[in-house]
Amino acid sequence: MALLQNHIAVVTGAGSGIGRAIASGYAREGARIVLLDINEKAAAEAAREIRDGNGSAESFALDVTRREDCIAVAKQVAAKVGPVSILVNNAGIARRNGMTGADAAVINDWEDIIAINLTGVFNVTHAFLPALRAGKGRIINIGSIQSFVHLRTPSSPAYTASKHGVLGFTKALAAELGKDGVRVNAIGPGFIETPLNEKVRASNPELAKVFIDHTPLGRAGKPEDIVGPAIFLASELSAYVSGSIVMVDGGYRTI
Ligand SMILES: NC(=O)c1ccc[n+]([C@@H]2O[C@H](COP(=O)([O-])OP(=O)(O)OC[C@H]3O[C@@H](n4cnc5c(N)ncnc54)[C@H](O)[C@@H]3O)[C@@H](O)[C@H]2O)c1
Repeated sequence: MALLQNHIAVVTGAGSGIGRAIASGYAREGARIVLLDINEKAAAEAAREIRDGNGSAESFALDVTRREDCIAVAKQVAAKVGPVSILVNNAGIARRNGMTGADAAVINDWEDIIAINLTGVFNVTHAFLPALRAGKGRIINIGSIQSFVHLRTPSSPAYTASKHGVLGFTKALAAELGKDGVRVNAIGPGFIETPLNEKVRASNPELAKVFIDHTPLGRAGKPEDIVGPAIFLASELSAYVSGSIVMVDGGYRTI
């Protein structure tokens, strides 16, 4: 039997990259998928692709920074699709300005990155929590190598702070929700080739080389590399796993 049969899975940022791959992978394992993205068109296209492959998928426009909208979408999903049992908090952005850049940019980066990457995770979790608790659900948050360290390849302190925060939030939720049968884990992707880093890969191939040279598996990741671990954490295969982060980084953090 498919590993996620009878589940309804919400994936944020599902219109692109890692979120899109997870949504398709979950659909292949029999889950009904709810794709949420600020980019309504991309989410709708990804949902159509899943339906074309005989999967079940619905998309809704959502900016994860808007708390009231998260609550409204959760109500719509409950009414139109049903009770959600898997939530993947994946929506995120990255910028590469340090703390000593122009003031306006530094402040702007801080506000946007924390609002999307960290408060967004809180907002969507909070909105779907009643359903997840009722259904003994699973939450999977997308962290990073930067849930542990800052990278010297250009990156912003806001991004590192947001991803450390995602891991902290994962642990806090796992501790509190375990008694309800809700499991909460994170995935820490390494350098994954997605639209998020398309520009930097094109303009600065040296930077990609720095990552790859440090990676024992000797290559960049693909969105599909995240799918198996994401299925594992959503399924009964991980029935006794909670509060963990599964690194999917080609071994980057080991050296
Ligand atoms: N690509 C990598 O190397 C890498 C490494 C570590 C962690 N991550 C994390 O993985 C996640 C997915 O990244 P990706 O590489 O697939 O990026 P991506 O840019 O391909 O996809 C991100 C998606 O999030 C959506 N999004 C952005 N802001 C949003 C908002 N306010 N509300 C709702 N949706 C919003 C975008 O429209 C897009 O569809 C992010 O949390 C990112 O930080 C990526």
